[in-house]
Amino acid sequence: MEFIQAENLTFYYEGEDEEQPNNVKLVLKGVSVSVRKGEFVAVIGHNGSGKSTLSKHMNAILLPTGGRMLVDGIDTNDEDRIYDVRRKVGLVLQNPDNQLVASIVEEDVAFGPENLGVEPSEIRRRVDSALKAVDMYDYRHHAPHKLSGGQKQRVAIAGILAMEPDCIVLDEPTAMLDPKGREEVISAITRLNREQSITVVLITHNMEEAVDCDRVIVMDSGKVLTEGTPVEVFSQVERLRRHKLDVPQATELCSMLRGVGLSFKELPLSTDECVRMLSEVLL
Ligand SMILES: Nc1ncnc2c1ncn2[C@@H]1O[C@H](COP(=O)(O)OP(=O)(O)OP(=O)(O)O)[C@@H](O)[C@H]1O
Ligand SMILES: [Mg+2]
Repeated sequence: MEFIQAENLTFYYEGEDEEQPNNVKLVLKGVSVSVRKGEFVAVIGHNGSGKSTLSKHMNAILLPTGGRMLVDGIDTNDEDRIYDVRRKVGLVLQNPDNQLVASIVEEDVAFGPENLGVEPSEIRRRVDSALKAVDMYDYRHHAPHKLSGGQKQRVAIAGILAMEPDCIVLDEPTAMLDPKGREEVISAITRLNREQSITVVLITHNMEEAVDCDRVIVMDSGKVLTEGTPVEVFSQVERLRRHKLDVPQATELCSMLRGVGLSFKELPLSTDECVRMLSEVLL
């Protein structure tokens, strides 16, 4: 079942065009994509391709200029349902410092459900459960600003989880983190997807993160360049390269080796697969 469905979505930013109405710059140019319930989807694409703009349509922060965005069947243009949409889809941003508001971790996580008017005893339950889900329960009495980047981002994710969304959209949540923080955040998100069936849309510049997803959507200049499973997408090495997009290092290496005559049946996505496939070809 489709949970998020963009149908021929077009969008331009207001204010861009007032002086020259004929010079409107479309940032999304007819995007049709969907995300099924329970799926873990990566969105990749170079700077300015429209990833963040698309993600903001998924919880009705932005509304389409043309086409439609449906979230769990609700048209985000339906003003009466806008809070239902926002409750169903939580958005996590790149910089955790901009998302943390309170001076104690558990108060921060409680902020969202408090605003929704949730009962205090239920807030307590949700805060504890959200912090446990991202492995930050032991830090519930700590000050957020003293945590590491990966810990802060996990608290920000807990804050979204405490509102009990069906889907979390994360806009480059690991971009500002060191490798350890990155790993902590990705494994927390993966667990939420696998154990709580939360639908995940992960926008990332990191190809190694994208290879572990169910499906990859590639944005290019406001359009969908291609989409499919990680294998389907990343085996198009030349095409992605032409659009100045990265592929995982293991894929690129074996694609180059193929170019000099090694005959791989398919290309690997990870170092482990690379070793296995190389040994099959060479040993
Ligand atoms: N608030 C805004 N007002 C006007 N133009 C904007 C605004 N936000 C983004 N844009 C423009 O829209 C286009 C798409 O931007 P968007 O942020 O969606 O891309 P992105 O794929 O998320 O890029 P990045 O990888 O750098 O985060 C860019 O040309 C950008 O300059
Ligand atoms: Mg962006």
